[in-house]
Amino acid sequence: MDTKLIIDTDPGIDDAFAIALAALSAEVDLIGVTTVFGNVPLASTTVNARRLLQLCGRPDVPVAAGAERPLVHPQPFTAAYVHGSDGLSGKSGTLPEPTRELEPVDAVSLLVQLLEAADEPVTIAPIGPLTNIALLLAAHPHVRSKIGRIVIMGGGVTFGNTTPVAEFNIWSDPEAARRVLVEETVPCVLVPVDLTHRCAVDADWIAKLSATGPIGATLVGLTGSYQKHYPKALGRQAMVLHDTVAVAEAMSQGILRTETFPIDVDCGLGPSRGQTLVDRRPATAHEESPEVRSPGTVEVAVDTDLDGLRGFVLDGLSGSRR
Ligand code: BDR
Ligand code: CA
Repeated sequence: MDTKLIIDTDPGIDDAFAIALAALSAEVDLIGVTTVFGNVPLASTTVNARRLLQLCGRPDVPVAAGAERPLVHPQPFTAAYVHGSDGLSGKSGTLPEPTRELEPVDAVSLLVQLLEAADEPVTIAPIGPLTNIALLLAAHPHVRSKIGRIVIMGGGVTFGNTTPVAEFNIWSDPEAARRVLVEETVPCVLVPVDLTHRCAVDADWIAKLSATGPIGATLVGLTGSYQKHYPKALGRQAMVLHDTVAVAEAMSQGILRTETFPIDVDCGLGPSRGQTLVDRRPATAHEESPEVRSPGTVEVAVDTDLDGLRGFVLDGLSGSRR
């Protein structure tokens, strides 16, 4: 049976690849896309998501706009320096204009509608700040039973990408992330930067995608800002398509190897704000010191067949699984 999937997103270059991967793959039933502030402001992430679905020939997928800011503290800055000021390397306006209107309801309302209507568990893939998902679970707890898994791109086990210890999506709204990862019981899979960086794609992979056809070539055309940023950030010619790694797991459960760990999120206002504290001590350590044990437990993606994953994404984006 096809996995029913909702993507919550802030496109974003890697979000664009992730949306296209799900939109172009027949093994997943993409039933909705909700948008959130993040890489760039909400108005841009929303029009980008709608244009990307049009590019992929999927105007059947409803899009609703969500949170324009974090729950508690303002977001200190966006990631326009990584994705371009429009979120897509200045190329958003070159994508096809959407034929489908934006949904007249907000993101949380669309999530509730889709979940209430679902007759099988739905996977949610948040690939931006977790604000919409925290609001959903806080305001509409009855939909928890309709959610099979929440597969999140976010966090870092051993390093961050926005601060030395915090990853962008968690850092953008730590209070929301803590609500989802620590305070809720819906099964979560966290796909951290430790693994997404290992899944980086090189120039050969990009050239292959470009040669698959007009959609592949258009996606590659959106990567100008990434092609400038990542060689500096990584010290080699490669790009990290973070969100596609999470959406691959959302589509194909088990493509990433996971381990279960206690987790917490630093919501303090000091230098480690937004850090995901993944407790990798042996279980006996928790048992001996239960009073200092982290409250939440999540599955953390720790490994994958790197070439297999890259091949899965390339095949999906080429439309060969349509
Ligand atoms: C995450 O932050 C954003 O810039 C990307 O789209 C991805 O979701 C990586 O840290
Ligand atoms: Ca994103």
